[in-house]
Amino acid sequence: MNGAPLARYDATLQGLARKDRLRTLAPRAGLDFSSNDYLGLAASKRLGEAVAAAIARGTPVGATGSRLLRGNAPEHEALETDAAAFFGAERALFFGGGYIANFALLTALPQKGDFLVLDELAHASMHEGAQAGRAQSIVVAHNDVNAVEGAISRWRAEGGMGCVWIAVESLYSMDGDRAPMESLVTLADRHEAFIVVDEAHATGVWGPDGRGLAAAFEGRANIVALHTCGKALGASGALVTGPRTLCDYLVNRCRPFIYATAPSPLMAVAAREALAMLSDEPMRRVQLHDRVAFAGRQLAERCGVTPSGSQIQPFVIGNVRRTMTLAAALQARGFDIRGIRPPTVPEGTSRLRISLTLNVDEADISAMVEALVEVLATA
Ligand SMILES: Cc1ncc(COP(=O)(O)O)c(C=O)c1O
Repeated sequence: MNGAPLARYDATLQGLARKDRLRTLAPRAGLDFSSNDYLGLAASKRLGEAVAAAIARGTPVGATGSRLLRGNAPEHEALETDAAAFFGAERALFFGGGYIANFALLTALPQKGDFLVLDELAHASMHEGAQAGRAQSIVVAHNDVNAVEGAISRWRAEGGMGCVWIAVESLYSMDGDRAPMESLVTLADRHEAFIVVDEAHATGVWGPDGRGLAAAFEGRANIVALHTCGKALGASGALVTGPRTLCDYLVNRCRPFIYATAPSPLMAVAAREALAMLSDEPMRRVQLHDRVAFAGRQLAERCGVTPSGSQIQPFVIGNVRRTMTLAAALQARGFDIRGIRPPTVPEGTSRLRISLTLNVDEADISAMVEALVEVLATA
């Protein structure tokens, strides 16, 4: 085979490079200002020991099959039982990851004839699920409850008869801002709509015991939540929580759940232990919130950044090349801060995404801000 069949892929890569958008994999290095390991659980002794103990008692590494066949391990069921109780939902289902779970929810639950309203900044997995699903869907302006209401009213006025679905994140992954959950739930109730809320960045960090920003609404018949296990929980996978009927429906109709090998039982052990840690170790949340406030003050004073008020602090630069130059300069100084470019964020809003975790302390944050001031002056 000569190189000809690869030429179009090469051309795409070259085009991306010309636009400063070529992505490459870089080794992990420097102080952690980019991971989603907000509570520092990923490398915690307790999580490691829980997995080691599970291995020692013979828990298999692989699930060996689909959940509907021999892949359904007691570890999955124990996690789901605990998760449903912890989050206050009727039932929980464990998926291999948040991306696939979002995609699965939005392809399986909204039906033909339904209408799905999606926040423009919702995660890519939600947008792709909406596109692949059977419901008519519309993207609305970020956090604009009136736009959601307007879209629903127009659809009904045009004869839409099915159910309405609203898909949002509770804490946005690239902006660190919150969805107006209460207004959305009131709106959903008024229109007998369902809400699918992606709590990926809120789980473990926000809400009572770290149950998320939609905690007050879990257990309702019209709320389905996604709690990823790969971020503050320090493991991987994702828990979908919601009404028993919808979870039972997913077990029967959700193709990514049915036609896939179940996640490793060891990961279920890790996620379950992480949930227990949320209840047992509330100080982690308190410490993280202190660090968020500390960083917010420093970044506001020294760099004029408006604090997001969460552990995700964007510093919007705008220009792609400058963003990546700044990120590289910070990395060279030992601070792992990544530049985020379109299409992950909207055109013209390239940014440094500063993530705050318990993997750094206040001295590290001060040093990072100092370095940021320096590189901003030179790049
Ligand atoms: C908001 C949001 N939802 C879903 C996901 C996907 O979750 P996972 O990494 O578990 O696939 C991510 C991760 O990047 C995310 O930021």
